[in-house]
Amino acid sequence: MTNPARRLHLNAFVMANGHHEAAWRHPDVRPTDALTLAHYVDIARTAERGRLDSIFFADNLALPRNVRFNGHSAFEPITLLSAIAAVTEHIGLIATASTTYNEPYLLARAFASLDHLSGGRAGWNIVTSAGQDEARNVNLAERPDHADRYARAAEFLDVATALWDSWADDAVVADQAAGIWADVDAIRPIDHEGEHFQVRGPLNIRRPVQGHPLLVQAGSSEAGKEFAARTAEAVFTAQQTLEDAQAFYRDLKGRLGGYGRSPEDLLVLPGISPVIGRTEQEARDREAELNSLINPQYGLAQLSAMLDTDLTDVPLDEPLPDVAPGTEGNQSRFDLVVGLARREDLTVRRLLERLAGGRGHRVVAGTPEQIADEIERWFTDGAADGFNVMPPTLPGSLDDFVDLVVPVLQRRGLFRTEYDGATLREHYGLARPTVRDRHPEKENAA
Ligand SMILES: Cc1cc2nc3c(=O)[nH]c(=O)nc-3n(C[C@H](O)[C@H](O)[C@H](O)COP(=O)(O)O)c2cc1C
Repeated sequence: MTNPARRLHLNAFVMANGHHEAAWRHPDVRPTDALTLAHYVDIARTAERGRLDSIFFADNLALPRNVRFNGHSAFEPITLLSAIAAVTEHIGLIATASTTYNEPYLLARAFASLDHLSGGRAGWNIVTSAGQDEARNVNLAERPDHADRYARAAEFLDVATALWDSWADDAVVADQAAGIWADVDAIRPIDHEGEHFQVRGPLNIRRPVQGHPLLVQAGSSEAGKEFAARTAEAVFTAQQTLEDAQAFYRDLKGRLGGYGRSPEDLLVLPGISPVIGRTEQEARDREAELNSLINPQYGLAQLSAMLDTDLTDVPLDEPLPDVAPGTEGNQSRFDLVVGLARREDLTVRRLLERLAGGRGHRVVAGTPEQIADEIERWFTDGAADGFNVMPPTLPGSLDDFVDLVVPVLQRRGLFRTEYDGATLREHYGLARPTVRDRHPEKENAA
């Protein structure tokens, strides 16, 4: 049998009014729409019309400090995606949830619920929560250290996956004549006793449609990559250059063998923020128009958060001052932002402009063909299995991507023209995990 052609994957990263930090001020945008369910349903339906693999919502557990200057909505993602599940059929639904500030039993249950309610379309963006403010909303004075967060995350995933597997797939018998609802031998406690968690189990909901929801990860530090290689099936990452993206791709795929996994078991999805114009000039004008709406005070607050350092008073027309390395926050973004400023010798003002479109993710302004060229180049040159598409404004820029760029990718035979599977795992071409480890006798009998 020949291998089917390698397929591109596209996820829409949905953020309130769009990814450009001044999106909410753009005349095409109705800023308060982002406070309504209708806005997100419209976006999900557009993504589905474009045959995208999934939509994704980021999340954290603190109000941003600079909400004075930016549109903010922050519906809890599992709640929001449950509502969207009811009015969509195909699109995958990826919610962010933290392993640092949750309990595995509670989250395993919530994701199993979303997976059942959506007919097997749930995905979990597993984050360890890099921000300091979140800790203070959940009974802690300080955020736990980077290494501790990842150690807890690894055990968290062991517990969550064991809980999903605490039910064999055929545990529900529902034999009305015999009066037997469930095969209790196929529902087992997990009896987990670890450093961070003691969990008896079993879970109080049957095994998810997909076995496990799709497991996504978005940390790119050393510890983040190791965690991804062990656990994740898709990885979101911010990469500025083709060379950096190729190195990251090779590095991450190279780690999978150490965990008995193959390179195809994990998809790498770098971010791309496409600024689309009918001509290149129109795209550049659009980018300039958005950048003209930037508030540097907001940009400096964002930069301070990304570099975990107070930079709110630094002069705008001088180079980025020295910042102490070794953050306990977001290590990969720290390296990316400082690397960009130094490599291109940017003043703080120019750096803020470069970050405004995608907070360090790559921004590409051009015609639909030029954007498709960039996507194809990274996909074929060993830098990406697909993309995390970050529309500059919403809903307009996602409409443009779906109506103008997706058809080019389809004509080139890179992207699907129809869904050929039902679940999110099927969209991503990833196997459904078995319960072999926990129910060996059932597996043998099958
Ligand atoms: C596309 C993308 C989306 C992310 N979304 C979130 C999020 O919703 N919540 C969060 O706490 N962190 C989010 N992160 C941050 C990562 O999960 C991670 O905490 C961060 O990259 C720091 O980890 P590292 O030091 O291993 O890179 C995101 C990162 C990327 C690249």
